[in-house]
Amino acid sequence: MKYTLAFDVYGTLINTSGIYDSLKSMIGAHAKPFMDDWRNKQLEYSFRRGLMDKYTDFSICTKDSLEYCCQMYGIDLNKKQKEALMDEYTILPAFPDVKAALKNLKESGHRLFAFSNGSEKAVRKLLTTARIVDLFDGIVSVENVQSFKPNPLVYAHFNKETSSTKTNSWLISSNPFDVIGAVSFGMYSAWIRRTKDSIFDPWGIEPTLIINELTELSLRLETKD
Ligand code: 2OP
Repeated sequence: MKYTLAFDVYGTLINTSGIYDSLKSMIGAHAKPFMDDWRNKQLEYSFRRGLMDKYTDFSICTKDSLEYCCQMYGIDLNKKQKEALMDEYTILPAFPDVKAALKNLKESGHRLFAFSNGSEKAVRKLLTTARIVDLFDGIVSVENVQSFKPNPLVYAHFNKETSSTKTNSWLISSNPFDVIGAVSFGMYSAWIRRTKDSIFDPWGIEPTLIINELTELSLRLETKD
């Protein structure tokens, strides 16, 4: 069966840990916990804004969470350093398995879309920089819904924008909140374990598939039918 595939971007296609080296050069030993807290606070801000119906561009969640972490760690990054980190966030690298996996899935006849909290403009820049933008049939952003994942409205928006249905579309994400949101909405979903210590929330809402590398997906989709 040929599917419409929604690929989450940050943390799934694009490695948000790509910012580590710059952070390390600025703040030394605190870089890893700082980076993890920054990502978690960024997502927390998107959840809170979704619940509050106070949507803003996802880059504002990224910027505000960077500011929060500077205060939390008592680290006084200057304006230039913060701008450098924010700029780098717009050109983060793709994971090494992405290009080959996407090519294979495309050749297998599936439709590929990037699907993100990020704006269409921000996602296009990331995918273009990572030289994978041409592998996608399109980019779907939550910005048209003015809310964030895992609001069911954003998954419904994806199906509408791509003329797909719950039963012929998959959400592929490394973020359990995203996988649970998509399965709860009614789509299929593959959870990609990007880190060996990643834990899936014990909600009793399970991924349709669990993979460790994106290159596994094509065969798993075939054998699922
Ligand atoms: C996304 O790209 C934030 O990873 C999430 O939508």
